[in-house]
Amino acid sequence: MLHLTLRQLQVFESAARHLSLSRAAEELHLSQPGVSMQLKKLAEAVGHPLLEQTGKRINLTEQGQELVSTAREILGAVVRYEHSLVARRGLSGGSLRIVAITTASYFVPRLLGEFSKRHPGVKVFLRVTNREQVLSSLAAGLDDLYILGQPPEGLAVTAIPFLKNPLVVLAAPDHPLAGHKAIPVARLAEEPWLLREPGSGTRLAVERLFADRGFQLSPRMELGSNEAIKQAVLAGLGISVVSRHTLSLHAPGQFALLDAEGFPIPRQWYAVYPAGRQRSVVARTFLDFLLSDGTRL
Ligand code: PGA
Repeated sequence: MLHLTLRQLQVFESAARHLSLSRAAEELHLSQPGVSMQLKKLAEAVGHPLLEQTGKRINLTEQGQELVSTAREILGAVVRYEHSLVARRGLSGGSLRIVAITTASYFVPRLLGEFSKRHPGVKVFLRVTNREQVLSSLAAGLDDLYILGQPPEGLAVTAIPFLKNPLVVLAAPDHPLAGHKAIPVARLAEEPWLLREPGSGTRLAVERLFADRGFQLSPRMELGSNEAIKQAVLAGLGISVVSRHTLSLHAPGQFALLDAEGFPIPRQWYAVYPAGRQRSVVARTFLDFLLSDGTRL
């Protein structure tokens, strides 16, 4: 039997995926000499060089290529085993820190509630804030997972879509456009608009849709929350766009959803974390839960 360790395989798999020792070191929170040492020991155990360096580039040798698929099978089996252990025993402790964008507060607490029932030992912390704040927390990277409606550009992140997030046009039930079909964007633009505060992801998506069609919305009113938007719509102050999730507790018919060109805007909810970040078992378990049960909400 070969004398190699799981850690060596993990280091090798990461180096092979990134074709870079420094990125493997970063991903696994090791020093670069630490990575080189593990790779050297692995090559000795296998009896062949696994990586070759040409100038600054690193490539896999033929033996390296063979080993990388075996390494992935072995590591995958260990991860699956770990997940099944967790599923059987439940997580006995640990914590989960989630930062969710404002609108996600309409469904994230329900998900966390279900997760906490399955894993009562886990302490859950949820912070709800708007897109700008979520992005700065993400840049600092101190939380386990960030939930938002559009992955950030310009930050190295892993973003996993897990749930549909249609954005709909909301009006009072007696609005003159209620019941009309395929209302042109130009007609919508003539209405008095109620928009979320600058920095809101919902607002960005609406402004982008209008800008793509050559219109600029000048809001009649800016409101800092979905609840305030809904109240203002009901008061007949104008129309707005909200995520369909914000309507989950309302009786059907309380609002009119206008049938307009380009709507609903087909968005998704994403679970995001900094790229290359090693996630805790709790965070991984929650992510698996999101992907299986989050989609059923
Ligand atoms: P918001 O973001 O709550 O800041 O509007 C929601 C989204 O990005 O879809």
